[in-house]
Amino acid sequence: MVMTVQLIWVLQFKFLLTFNQLLPLFQIVLGMSLMNSSKVRQSIKDKWVSKNYKVKEYFDTAKQHSYYPFGKSNSSNSMIDPRNYYAFHSYFEQLKQRNTTQFGLFTTWLLNLEDQVEGNVQIPFNVNILDLTVINNIIYSINSMFINYNQTEIEQIFDDKLQMLYLNSTNFLASHVQSGILNTHIDISNPYYPSQYVFYMFASKNVQLLNSNLDKLNGCAKEVAKIYDKMLKANATQFILDTAKFNSNKELHWQDFLGNYANKTYEEDNTFTTIMSLSILVNTWTTTQVDKSGNLKLYFDPQTPQTVIDIIDRGMKTVSKHGFFEKSNINAFYSITLKTYTSQFYYPMNVHKYLNGTEFNPHQGAQDIVQHIAGVDGIIDKDEYEQMLKEKWYSHETQEKFTGFNVPRQQFAFWSSEALTFSYGMNLLSKYNSIDRSNLNIPI
Ligand SMILES: *[C@@H]1O[C@H](CO)[C@@H](O)[C@H](O)[C@H]1NC(C)=O
Ligand SMILES: *[C@@H]1O[C@H](CO)[C@@H](O)[C@H](O)[C@H]1NC(C)=O
Ligand SMILES: *[C@@H]1O[C@H](CO)[C@@H](O)[C@H](O)[C@H]1NC(C)=O
Ligand SMILES: *[C@@H]1O[C@H](CO)[C@@H](O)[C@H](O)[C@H]1NC(C)=O
Ligand SMILES: *[C@@H]1O[C@H](CO)[C@@H](O)[C@H](O)[C@H]1NC(C)=O
Ligand SMILES: *[C@@H]1O[C@H](CO)[C@@H](O)[C@H](O)[C@H]1NC(C)=O
Ligand SMILES: *[C@@H]1O[C@H](CO)[C@@H](O)[C@H](O)[C@H]1NC(C)=O
Repeated sequence: MVMTVQLIWVLQFKFLLTFNQLLPLFQIVLGMSLMNSSKVRQSIKDKWVSKNYKVKEYFDTAKQHSYYPFGKSNSSNSMIDPRNYYAFHSYFEQLKQRNTTQFGLFTTWLLNLEDQVEGNVQIPFNVNILDLTVINNIIYSINSMFINYNQTEIEQIFDDKLQMLYLNSTNFLASHVQSGILNTHIDISNPYYPSQYVFYMFASKNVQLLNSNLDKLNGCAKEVAKIYDKMLKANATQFILDTAKFNSNKELHWQDFLGNYANKTYEEDNTFTTIMSLSILVNTWTTTQVDKSGNLKLYFDPQTPQTVIDIIDRGMKTVSKHGFFEKSNINAFYSITLKTYTSQFYYPMNVHKYLNGTEFNPHQGAQDIVQHIAGVDGIIDKDEYEQMLKEKWYSHETQEKFTGFNVPRQQFAFWSSEALTFSYGMNLLSKYNSIDRSNLNIPI
């Protein structure tokens, strides 16, 4: 049953990719760094602009399709995936208790129910979804804009609404990292990116970018920089230090969940995870500056704990050892949202209807993933939600506890990219070689 559902979803995926935030985001960020580079010829920049450089249009679309749970005027915008709602419900309940009205978050799909073309263009499960990794990447595009884009145009794009989404999304992210949701329920807080290491690596790109360009940031972006700095220097760093391991050859490395089951480990994602971990530490604790000869150099924050520097140096010994990339280079970089039992739609919902508007009984039967709209619209009162958690949804009790991705007979589809392992590996080696320690009184 689960496998069938997943296969249909994978088939749909090809239609949907263009409406996901992923592609426009890469285009925006790549475009901005191309356009801002003095090394790229004008003819190439002109070509880029003529084809795909619609920065304002992208942010207008992102604003239009964001999640506004306190704005009831457009129900598609105030509705979210019920799995997500469960993951974040305490946060939303607190906002409601404080009589919040101004609040919005970036979503994953640049599409509303109203825009759907039945049979051709649909959001998976007909409902938008939040993903902390996706949210982080959208924040990255705004940060890139501040650093690489034309000031006049920024003023036209960065209006009150975008500012609200930018700040609310950053606070949302930091608050959930702090509460530990990545440890307790990453299956539904980051439904497309199952690895904490990937989340923190992308987050660390934000902190590197911001800390290296503090002079270019407006007040709002400075606040975001401060929140990110704290999140990465406290929580991400602690996580990386806590999960560091030594193998039988006393080599420092990190390991994620791929291929570990029933007390056996096949070390399938060790190479990738080790690269992610060291990149997180380097990005978090250094800034990039141009030195006197015009070369890019990385400098450690003078406050960097000695343990962090030691771990980076020891970890880089593992990475630079001959044969490091000759083991497994696979990773669980990206995945479908229906993974183990806890990531099915067995959570409370207050919207349960077919696309044609006819309601269905959400407590019985199974999900029709093409025709059903299953979501939570607005914010449900705390007590009512507690009651709803005791009921069955799609014939199943809600399992509040997530116990990991390696569950027998609950396999799921994920995307692995060995090219990504190599390119992030090269990126890390290059960054490590560019570290200038002259600002530290530390013998190498
Ligand atoms: C890149 O953007 C910055 C503004 O953030 C600007 O000062 C600089 O001149 C730009 N460089 C190029 C080559 O456009
Ligand atoms: C809701 O928003 C979508 C996308 O912005 C729009 O197409 C639709 O007309 C809106 N619906 C209402 C009732 O305002
Ligand atoms: C910035 O954008 C404005 C408005 O589009 C344009 O007039 C101006 O020439 C641009 N400035 C630069 C340095 O590209
Ligand atoms: C969301 O943004 C609005 C507008 O900037 C602000 O008033 C509100 O305090 C923010 N809420 C959170 C939780 O970040
Ligand atoms: C994140 O860091 C903060 C500040 O050190 C700490 O209070 C919080 O418990 C940490 N959260 C997790 C999940 O480690
Ligand atoms: C793994 O090892 C622990 C401790 O030896 C044991 O209790 C557990 O049953 C083992 N798990 C499996 C699935 O074999
Ligand atoms: C709506 O669609 C469902 C599923 O296809 C169908 O069972 C139901 O009869 C339809 N309702 C109306 C009013 O057409």
